[in-house]
Order: sequence, then structure tokens, then C-alpha cells
Amino acid sequence: MEFKEKLDAYVEQVEQAFDTLLPPATTRPSQIHQAMRYSLTAGGKRIRPALALAVAERFDPEVDALPAAVAIECLHTYTLIHDDLPAMDDSPLRRGVPTCHIQFDEATAVLAGDALLTYAFELLATHYAAIPEIAVALVKTLSETAGSQRLIGGQMEDILGEERDLDPDELEFIHLNKTAALIETSLEMGAIIARASPARVQAVKTYGRCIGLGFQIMDDLLDATSDADTMGKAVRADVAARKATYVAIHGLDKSRVALAELTEKACAISDSLDAPFLRSLATYLNERVH
Ligand code: IPE
Ligand code: IPE
Ligand code: MG
Ligand code: MG
Ligand code: MG
Repeated sequence: MEFKEKLDAYVEQVEQAFDTLLPPATTRPSQIHQAMRYSLTAGGKRIRPALALAVAERFDPEVDALPAAVAIECLHTYTLIHDDLPAMDDSPLRRGVPTCHIQFDEATAVLAGDALLTYAFELLATHYAAIPEIAVALVKTLSETAGSQRLIGGQMEDILGEERDLDPDELEFIHLNKTAALIETSLEMGAIIARASPARVQAVKTYGRCIGLGFQIMDDLLDATSDADTMGKAVRADVAARKATYVAIHGLDKSRVALAELTEKACAISDSLDAPFLRSLATYLNERVH
């Protein structure tokens, strides 16, 4: 199968699984279940779950990584709902539709984010209960990644960075943690489910760190150069909020060079793993327009 067909197939699998794996919108209290589904199903590139599925399939085509892929997308969507809140980036648009707090209200958006975060771990505990060592390993890595020293730590420094000028190392901490951490862990989770060797787990994590850093550089580039229609979210938001971004610190040209170098590294790791899908995905992300 060609790369794009394969990616579309992963996205379709994940989106179909939302319906079976998430509580129906009518479940009491329907306001929270509606809000969770609203943000989750609005669209989105589904890069993280696709990575988990692709890695699991590469190392063991027989295993079921779909519940973990859905858990990852639930957790990712929680980060977006909270990132958009007035107290954080105060964004009105996400995935081409009004953000959760605009469509519902702030209290509902806080709770929908909390619920999606929590549900991610319920999914892992429920669907991998038959293989306890895998269930525990998945919960351990995803909870560490989502926690105060990684994803939340990155978000904290991103917010604190609005108040002063950051140096390149401080910016790298933010990018590694607010964005690369979950991308890296999505790959690692696919590898854990497929019982990949420690060397392969390490290789996919290094690949994830490269495309993850590149992903946030591209996000910063697109905020500076694209438009809201294409992006499905507000643009020029980073300058307006005085955010420390790759573009603000290094400029457009250096940002593009850094992204190309990270993509090249990721491609080399893909080749060493004989994983053409990962190679194509790295290239695809290097060329993405939203
Ligand atoms: C947006 O993530 C937040 C960042 C880490 C830059 P995505 O660009 O993956 O957003 P969706 O899931 O496609 O909406
Ligand atoms: C968000 O970074 C990272 C997380 C949500 C963890 P941004 O604030 O740059 O993401 P966008 O641009 O709003 O999608
Ligand atoms: Mg933000
Ligand atoms: Mg934001
Ligand atoms: Mg951004």
C-alpha cells in the first residue's frame, strides 16, 4: 500500500474506534460526553495514533494497538482543549471549529479535558488487562509523558516564557516536552505492545524525538506563515502572545534548515529499522501545510 493510503487507513481505524470505545454522547451527564466527542471527532491529523499503530504493525502485525492509539488521541485532545482555554493560549478555533470552551463553556471544557485525560488510562487498563506487564508499561510511560516534568512541564515553561526572552536551550526544553514527548511515547507504546527489543524501542524513541522537535518547529513556522482557513486554528497567535517560538528565536530560514536536518535524521533511523512508513511520515511532516 502506498504511504498516503496507509495513513488514511490508520486514521479511519482510529476514528471508527472512537464510536465503539468512548461513552455515547447520550450517557449521563450528556453535556460532558458531548463535549468530549465534540473535540475528539472534530478532525485532526491523528499523527500520534497512526505512529503507534504503524510501529506495532512493523514489529508484530498480530497485536492490537488500537485501544492504545485511541487512548493517545484522547490524551492529545485533552492537551488541546486546555491549551486553548482563556487562561492558557485563549484560542477561539481548533480543528476548523469553535474551541470547546466557546462551543460549550469554560467549566465544561476544563472537565472535558480532565475526562479525556483520565479516560486514556481507563482504556489502557481495560484493554490490556490480559497482559498485565504490557498494561503497566503503557500506563507508566504515558503517565510520565503527560506529567509535570514532561508535557505539563513544557506547557508551564511555554506560559512562563511569555513574560521574558528565552534562550535556545530553554526553547528546546519547551519543544521537547510540550510536543516531542507525546510523539516519542506514541511510538514507544506501539513498540511495547509488539514486545520490540530494547534497542528497537530506543530507536523509535529517538526517531520520535526528531520528528517531535521538527513537528513543533513546523507548527511555529505555520503560525508565522499560514492562514486560519488552512490551519483550522488561529494564526499569528504566537507573536500576539509574545511566545518563545523557533521562528522568533532563530528566524524563518534557520527554522527550515533545522526541520530539514531533523527529518533527515529521522529518515536514517527509519531505514535502519527497515520501516518505510516511518520514513514517508517524516518526509510528509516536513512538507505539511496544516
Ligand atoms: C497541535 O497538534 C499541537 C501541537 C503539539 C503543535 P497537531 O498539529 O497534531 O493537532 P491536530 O491533532 O492535527 O489537530
Ligand atoms: C501546544 O503548543 C502543545 C500542546 C497542546 C501540548 P501550541 O500552543 O503551539 O499548539 P497550537 O498552535 O495551539 O496547536
Ligand atoms: Mg500553547
Ligand atoms: Mg496553543
Ligand atoms: Mg502553535
